[in-house]
Amino acid sequence: MSRLAINGGEQAVPEGLIKPWPPVDETDERLVMDALHAEQQARGKHNLAFEKEFAEWNGSRHAIFTNSGTAALHMGLAGCGIGAGDHVLAPAYTWSSSATCILHHNAIPIFVDIDFDTINIDTRKIEAAITPRTKAIVVVHLHGLAVNMAEIMRIADKHGLKVIEDACQAHGATFNGTKVGNFGHAAAFSLNQNKCLCSGEGGVFVSNDDEVAARAKQLWSFGETRAPEESRDYHAYALGWMYRNNELTAAFARAQLSRYPDYFKTLRDNGNLLHEKLEGTDNLIRPTEPEGHVHNWYNYNLRLDTEQIGRHGPPRAMRDAAVEALQAEGVPVSVWQKFLLPEMTVFQAKNAYGGGFPWSIPGADEGVEYNPEDFPVARRHCDTYIAMVQALRAPNGPEVVERIAEGVIKVFEGIGELDPAESQAVT
Ligand SMILES: Cc1ncc(COP(=O)(O)O)c(C=O)c1O
Repeated sequence: MSRLAINGGEQAVPEGLIKPWPPVDETDERLVMDALHAEQQARGKHNLAFEKEFAEWNGSRHAIFTNSGTAALHMGLAGCGIGAGDHVLAPAYTWSSSATCILHHNAIPIFVDIDFDTINIDTRKIEAAITPRTKAIVVVHLHGLAVNMAEIMRIADKHGLKVIEDACQAHGATFNGTKVGNFGHAAAFSLNQNKCLCSGEGGVFVSNDDEVAARAKQLWSFGETRAPEESRDYHAYALGWMYRNNELTAAFARAQLSRYPDYFKTLRDNGNLLHEKLEGTDNLIRPTEPEGHVHNWYNYNLRLDTEQIGRHGPPRAMRDAAVEALQAEGVPVSVWQKFLLPEMTVFQAKNAYGGGFPWSIPGADEGVEYNPEDFPVARRHCDTYIAMVQALRAPNGPEVVERIAEGVIKVFEGIGELDPAESQAVT
């Protein structure tokens, strides 16, 4: 085994080898310039075209372009008719807005632990978390792996719950051959900088249900119910937000979406190659792709096998030391989410809107406790994982993957050489 770069050895991934995300070509330039010179910078042809093209690509009946994935999630809650003080289930480990969107709609998040293998909500623990006030589940297809939606819909149907899919990271991922976003009553995608489909910032609300989509659309533009192609009457038919996006961003999103099938193929090829190369690596737990699921490898997680490593002490310190060593090898890793959701201050303080609202709604807070100890699997994952995003995407190919695999194997198999006490990791 060659010397670790952190100890003076040669770096596995040479500087400049990994190309930045997203690739931009003449299609992006042409469409964005067209939007720039158009008379209409908002609510114009690129927004309409993007919504149509996204709906077609995902096989969904309705798509509404938004200014963020979080906006689309909030629209999902509204579309599903969730009311103030209702309980909505969400995984204990995910992005914050997978659960704060519930608060945005004055409902109460109830957390469920995750499954260690899939890093998604543990479907076996959902029923125990259902209360008489539970109206919906936000399921998150985390890191690009679909949740077992057959199981989710079975539970939801049994208990009369609505399902909102947080597909913000999961463009193109499938479960039993169907793309995410088509199982629940509503779904949200993000198009922010990190995402496999990127327009800088942005999101898409999707639904196959006309009523859900109509209710969600009220929220999207000041509570107006009119479609973008119609003239506005500036009337707030309901409480609305301003969740629209603009023409420049829509044009960029269209250009990127036109190449998404190629991007997806690259992601699959690179992800599968890395997965293969890392098989059998000591001290490493690779991500899983259960049968019937197609991962989009949005975020390839490397987890420390603390049992095999056999070193005592806090796993986070060891993980942070491994991050530092991987970064020294030129492997672009980081630690993404450092907290379980229930330990975040907004939940601990139960004070989202001030005055304890929405927990202060009569009866809403009954039995609701945010105790991080209740989520041991999320804790184990959170303390031992290392995230890799973007490097597996186009235009990067096998030459990048080979070098990344080399760096990962070097660090994980040489983990005994790292000193967690000395770690200066910038995660
Ligand atoms: C799982 C998940 N949900 C929701 C979001 C929110 O998306 P956005 O940043 O577009 O609001 C993100 C991304 O940040 C995410 O990764």
